[in-house]
Amino acid sequence: MQKPASTDFPVHDLIRDRWSPRAFAGKPVEPALLASLFEAARWAPSSNNEQPWAYLVATNDDAENFAKTLSVLVEFNAGWAKNAPVLALAVSRLNFQSNNTPNRNAFYDTGAATALLSVEATARGLLVHQMAGFDHVKAKLVFEIPLDCEPIAAIAIGYPGDPDSLPQKLRDREVAPRTRKPLAEFVMSGRWGHTSPIVSR
Ligand SMILES: Cc1cc2nc3c(=O)[nH]c(=O)nc-3n(C[C@H](O)[C@H](O)[C@H](O)COP(=O)(O)O)c2cc1C
Repeated sequence: MQKPASTDFPVHDLIRDRWSPRAFAGKPVEPALLASLFEAARWAPSSNNEQPWAYLVATNDDAENFAKTLSVLVEFNAGWAKNAPVLALAVSRLNFQSNNTPNRNAFYDTGAATALLSVEATARGLLVHQMAGFDHVKAKLVFEIPLDCEPIAAIAIGYPGDPDSLPQKLRDREVAPRTRKPLAEFVMSGRWGHTSPIVSR
């Protein structure tokens, strides 16, 4: 299934075609293909080139690691994410490695890395669904994540599946059109709340 964005201005096909499914096909993801997604994340820009991100990855052929990752998701997310062939946790290092002072851009940079990962996935016929709905305290414990690192998001990765494989409520959401705020609400110039002429028509 495809859910292309309905845009007011043209964007690259990869941006248009990325979306967050809950139905995944059973097909496994080739390890080399999966590695390309993390390669894309690797080349994200970051403050001071700190690269504060890390990913804990679990493929469903590694039952123990996969179950461990699933166990940190909230029930709602675990319900559908269990069918994705790959799960991951995006983690941020909160302090600069050089001097151990706080890196206020750590979350921002980790999000940027995961955004690139998502675009690379789209280019390769895969889709990514990020999740805030997980127990970050439990994740720190079960994955032995150091104190100065914070799990930011869980991630499901796989090939798009059949919406009919989902329970009714999720199926309805799966096939519903994707929506966004208008550009005029968030592209401003001069002062807060003043829509930039760039996007006003
Ligand atoms: C940081 C983050 C956390 C999210 N958390 C969840 C979640 O816990 N469960 C879920 O089903 N979707 C979650 N989503 C998916 C969003 O709901 C989805 O990206 C949004 O509705 C836009 O849809 P689209 O990605 O298909 O364009 C999350 C997305 C992001 C980026």
